[in-house]
Amino acid sequence: MKVAVLGAAGGIGQALALLLKLQLPAGSELSLYDIAPVTPGVAVDISHIPTAVKVEGFAGEDPTPALKGADVVLISAGVARKPGMDRSDLFNINAGIVRNLIEKVAVTCPKACIGIITNPVNTTVAIAAEVLKKAGVYDKRKLFGVTTLDVVRSETFVAELKGLNVYRTTVPVIGGHSGVTILPLLSQVPYAEWKEEEIEPLTKRIQNAGTEVVNAKAGGGSATLSMAQAAARFANAVVRGLQGETVIECSYVEGDGKYARFFAQPIRFGKEGVEEILPIGKLSAFEQQALDAMLPTLRADIELGEKFVNP
Ligand code: NAD
Ligand code: LMR
Repeated sequence: MKVAVLGAAGGIGQALALLLKLQLPAGSELSLYDIAPVTPGVAVDISHIPTAVKVEGFAGEDPTPALKGADVVLISAGVARKPGMDRSDLFNINAGIVRNLIEKVAVTCPKACIGIITNPVNTTVAIAAEVLKKAGVYDKRKLFGVTTLDVVRSETFVAELKGLNVYRTTVPVIGGHSGVTILPLLSQVPYAEWKEEEIEPLTKRIQNAGTEVVNAKAGGGSATLSMAQAAARFANAVVRGLQGETVIECSYVEGDGKYARFFAQPIRFGKEGVEEILPIGKLSAFEQQALDAMLPTLRADIELGEKFVNP
């Protein structure tokens, strides 16, 4: 199994590369690419860790050598937020970066499963889909927006608030990955009993958790370490699925379009990527209202990506 990380010299990329070196199954290959010249050095550094995962690093303008034979491609290349910015403020720079990288993926490893981390995820996934479609290689079972950080945060905050075992707490998070489009389904958390007044503030905290980190880092970037852990969890789910195991994680994928063309919900991973998109289940009145309210924003974010590729 070969996993390529594009953006591998960045805050997320380096930590993600480290986690993958430690966690990928024995015999896997890890391919690190970034425009930053340090990237081959990052690979040499990580390669000294004694695990059975082979690491190579590539820098420069062309990701092609890093993508050869990749089964999974994770993209965190791009710029991150500073205080006062919205994720949509990243669109102008990151849209072009994702388009250019996906054009190379389409030619070099068109059958790879692709996980997009680069923000604004609601839009960059739509860009990737349209670029792959134009190249005639789009398979909706193989394109994912990585929304695992919303799940990771929800698990942490819920377990803290309700005194649950954090290792056993599960929280589905549906919708997209920005502001009101992030919807944790607190009503579905096993063993959690909620007071009505707890729901709205906790939902808002989860929706604004990225901003909480951006403000705390005070101009030094956005979430990198928790994101790397979330992306490693996502990547392991994809890899285990490709190897025939049954794994379920939430991810932002193209489904039946009931809510929006792309929508995050629980996914069963399998040998071709998405094996099954699982139902979102029964929502509380609060969640149903939040779902209805987010859809215009989510659909507009998606349309922006589609129009970027097909003006
Ligand atoms: P960073 O600035 O630390 O790293 C970005 C890396 O991308 C840099 O090393 C840079 O050299 C590289 N890069 C830029 N253009 C490139 C290109 N064309 N090809 C290859 N590499 C290129 O940023 P970061 O903190 O790692 O964040 C990266 C992205 O991830 C941002 O867009 C951020 O908003 C996003 N993010 C998403 C989530 C999520 O939940 N999906 C969470 C956190 C951050
Ligand atoms: C996050 O949720 O932490 C990321 O999307 C980064 C950001 O800009 O908030």
